[in-house]
Amino acid sequence: MAAARDAASACSADSFQLRHLHLALSAHFGPAGSGHLQGCVRLELTCLRDRASEVVLDSHPSVEVEGAGLAPPGSRCGEGQGPQPGALRPLAFQSRPFASYGSALHVTLPEPLTCGGTVVLEIAYRAGAGPGVCWLTPEQTAGKQKPYMYTQGQAVLNRSFFPCFDTPAVKSTYSALIKVPEGFTAVMSAVTREKQKDNTFYFKMPLPIPSYLVALVVGDIVSAEVGPRSHVWAEPCLIEAAKKEYDGVIEEFLSTGEKLFGPYVWERYDVLFMPPSFPFGGMENPCITFVTPCLLAGDRSLADVIIHEISHSWFGNLVTNAHWGEFWLNEGFTMYAQRRITKEIYGAAYTCLEAATGRALLRQHMDNTGEDHPLNKLRVKIEPGVDPEDTYNETPYEKGYCFVSYLAHLVGDQKKFDAFLQAYVNQFKFQSITADEALEFYLNYFPELKKKGVDTIPGFEFDRWLNTPGWPPYLPDLSPGEELMKPAENLAELWASPDCDMQAIRAVDISTWKTFQVVYFLDKILAKSPLPDGNIEKMSAMYSKISKAQNAELRLRWCQILLKNNHEAEFGKVKDFLHSQGKQKYTLPIYRGMVSGSEAAQALAVETFSATAPQLHVNVQNYVKKILGEKS
Ligand code: BES
Ligand code: ZN
Repeated sequence: MAAARDAASACSADSFQLRHLHLALSAHFGPAGSGHLQGCVRLELTCLRDRASEVVLDSHPSVEVEGAGLAPPGSRCGEGQGPQPGALRPLAFQSRPFASYGSALHVTLPEPLTCGGTVVLEIAYRAGAGPGVCWLTPEQTAGKQKPYMYTQGQAVLNRSFFPCFDTPAVKSTYSALIKVPEGFTAVMSAVTREKQKDNTFYFKMPLPIPSYLVALVVGDIVSAEVGPRSHVWAEPCLIEAAKKEYDGVIEEFLSTGEKLFGPYVWERYDVLFMPPSFPFGGMENPCITFVTPCLLAGDRSLADVIIHEISHSWFGNLVTNAHWGEFWLNEGFTMYAQRRITKEIYGAAYTCLEAATGRALLRQHMDNTGEDHPLNKLRVKIEPGVDPEDTYNETPYEKGYCFVSYLAHLVGDQKKFDAFLQAYVNQFKFQSITADEALEFYLNYFPELKKKGVDTIPGFEFDRWLNTPGWPPYLPDLSPGEELMKPAENLAELWASPDCDMQAIRAVDISTWKTFQVVYFLDKILAKSPLPDGNIEKMSAMYSKISKAQNAELRLRWCQILLKNNHEAEFGKVKDFLHSQGKQKYTLPIYRGMVSGSEAAQALAVETFSATAPQLHVNVQNYVKKILGEKS
């Protein structure tokens, strides 16, 4: 494959093919939010070149390797009872520094292998709390009764879960035996799940996936059916709300996706509601999306996240970016697919409204960083030592969406572009690719466009899209959303004008507005803030739907507005929101708002962070520290 070497991985993926991965682990909860996984990982490898004398795996200082060995082919690993060193031929191993986010585990083979030779490598290890393995206290869960553990692999965190080929360029099938304490349940990103004796669960993923999509949760969780191939999973106290939120709606998302992009190959699609500190809105673990409990809005208004994660079933999980510098291939295509599904189900107006809020986020991001920032290219150069996590921003999502929309615009016929997307998935399924491969396929699929030289139209060159930072040269037409956006824009105008016409304002009834219409309105207010004195107070009193919102997207915007207008009387809401959840995309903008606000806002930032830091994901903690540090 033409993929450039992945600078974020130390593994010897060019020397070995990974045929299968097996985990045999037992989960142990310790006191005060500690815990560890104990057991082994087994890698079935085929050698791709002659004289290969060592295997290098991505690992992490939080992973304590206890032994490495070659298993006789066909023997069974661990069975959940931990390693069986007697059955192994012991091998020398050494951990070497690699980057701030991981280490390199070198395992020496007893004799060099020749091309085509196979080995089964088994590593006995113990994984404590690492960036990819989170251990929560009972207080950090919804039920507050039992501890909880989860893993989050994307982008390069699973090397603290098990030593692995931690690059999205490598895919393999996997299986796992997970032993949990009495009264706990294990769930993984796998097609089959079987409860065996002794609190042990057996999982199988028979389709090849990259390491970052292997995911595990151990907790007090239960499930409820919400569709013919779907369950929701949550702690017992949340399961009713979870079922109510998505009962009977997920199948329509899946079948619309299948109609547009081809078969859904992962058999099941479940949704797992995580504890409030889960740092993402959603994570597309195959067969089971992990989501923030903030999605439990009571009115399905945040289902766009579910549609987004379902879209990754084709874009990301079937066709995968070969390295994290091509992350836009995962997220840009997924944003496009998400909005295709949304358009089929909810129509063009609503879809354009949602896309407009996405565009506003891209605007905010580019205003913050400057358009010319190197991260505002679609293809990002990730230098050795740079944590791919630190390159995360809106550009791959929304500029990526614009580029895919531009590719569709060049074709000019939605049906033909839909057919292309199906062919693209079919061509590259179970593979990892770069933008060059995707674009070459596009041009070959549409030879008349290739003949016309659409890739070199001045100002819109594919090379410029990929390699030049800045605002997208092409923006899809969002005017079908105007019927929903215009009233929101007008109302924002009224509130921002110095003469503040209360009569005109009162004449607008926002009680019938959809959540995203209110979100759009609030983004406009935020952009126009600070408003004339006293207006925020009036707005707060007039719209309890906004100022007393339980919906997280509304709360985020309201907090940002409170800070930008220095409306201290309601700063308690900022604090409450930050105490209630730990999603990165909510937490960081609010801290940025606080540190660039008044003294009271800055004090609130310090006070809130010292109270909530232990609840935040370690990466989010570090980003908040950076924001707080930049100020002092
Ligand atoms: N795959 C991402 C989440 C992610 C990205 C985790 C990078 C780790 C590193 C997921 O699909 C995502 O984009 N989630 C969004 C949903 C939104 C765009 C609808 C989120 O969490 O906000
Ligand atoms: Zn995504």
